[in-house]
Amino acid sequence: METKIVLMDEQSINEKILADAGDIIRSGGLVAFPTETVYGLGGDALNEKSSERIYRAKGRPSDNPLIVHICRREDMKAIVKEVPETAWKLAEVFWPGPLTMILHKSEKIPYTTTGGLDTVAVRMPRHKVALAFIEAAGGYIAAPSANTSGKPSPTLAKYVEEDMSGRIEMLIDGGEVGIGLESTIVDLTEEIPMILRPGYITKAMLEEVLGEVKVDRTILSDTTDKAPKAPGMKYRHYAPKGNLTIIAGTQEDVVKEINRRAERMREGGEKVGIIGTDATISLYIGDSIKSAGKREDEESIARALYRILREFDDEGVTAIYSEAFDDTAKSGGIGQAIMNRLLKAAGHHIEHIW
Ligand code: TXA
Ligand code: MG
Repeated sequence: METKIVLMDEQSINEKILADAGDIIRSGGLVAFPTETVYGLGGDALNEKSSERIYRAKGRPSDNPLIVHICRREDMKAIVKEVPETAWKLAEVFWPGPLTMILHKSEKIPYTTTGGLDTVAVRMPRHKVALAFIEAAGGYIAAPSANTSGKPSPTLAKYVEEDMSGRIEMLIDGGEVGIGLESTIVDLTEEIPMILRPGYITKAMLEEVLGEVKVDRTILSDTTDKAPKAPGMKYRHYAPKGNLTIIAGTQEDVVKEINRRAERMREGGEKVGIIGTDATISLYIGDSIKSAGKREDEESIARALYRILREFDDEGVTAIYSEAFDDTAKSGGIGQAIMNRLLKAAGHHIEHIW
């Protein structure tokens, strides 16, 4: 199959392309599209066959459920058994936007889409191309991130092309995404709402609307005694090909330690990549040194992280060292989401030097 690549960003919504994309989805095909978080790999959420094709295209285990994307808040009524008050409140404040809610599913949603679960993940994205595409395609789009299972999520169309070319009918190239990390997932099926995946919408922001919110304790630690509730969080994810180690400590110590290890690895024939920040990259010695952005501007780091991991893959980097980032909940930042993804990419290999 040849993948048709078309250009459409938020400023150039094109009805003809949307109609073509809608036709593809209605006939059971797949279309990758930009959202404000990462690129999605879309299929008809109400069609079992489409969901099966999504799992196959990604090489994803079929027990790892898909998020259903909608383009109007009220559309969640059709796919959810009963919409709780908490969901309406969150939708009012955060939709369209990078928040996914877990709710009890209605019969309309096939079990293939939910990986066999009785709950369904629902999100209304903010990206104009995503919204127009979902509408043109019938209103219910199942879409995981558009990467091969286990790889970093794509923040640029070229990475979708790399992973999905020949496996999907169409790729809508909308340029670089805005946020760069996947949506926050909050489970509303328990008495107290629980964050299953941290993202741009933080615990503090959710608590302002809902009161107490818990965080799945498997998110930042490497506990093996309890499986995470979002099945996808149990897989080693976001992983670059090179072996990634995170070094935490004071800036001066971290720079020294990373340089020491990088030198040793290079002597051993490894190609070393280093992730620093604008303030530190001039201090490193390695084969490929990249800045994730500014520490004061966590959004810059979120946007750069997956791109950097992909670039190291393209450059054939075999050993990667990264500075750690602040994951305390201070100032309602998205540091927790950044460290959650970085830790998974590193297989939880972090060393603290104090
Ligand atoms: O930002 C995003 O959410 C992106 C864009 C494309 O919208 N999508 C995305 O999808 O990240 P995916 O499939 O890569 O991640 C979905 C996560 C997985 O970890 C999955 O296990 C979890 O959501 N999930 C889906 N349905 C669930 C459910 N019913 N209960 C618990 N976790 C669920
Ligand atoms: Mg994903």
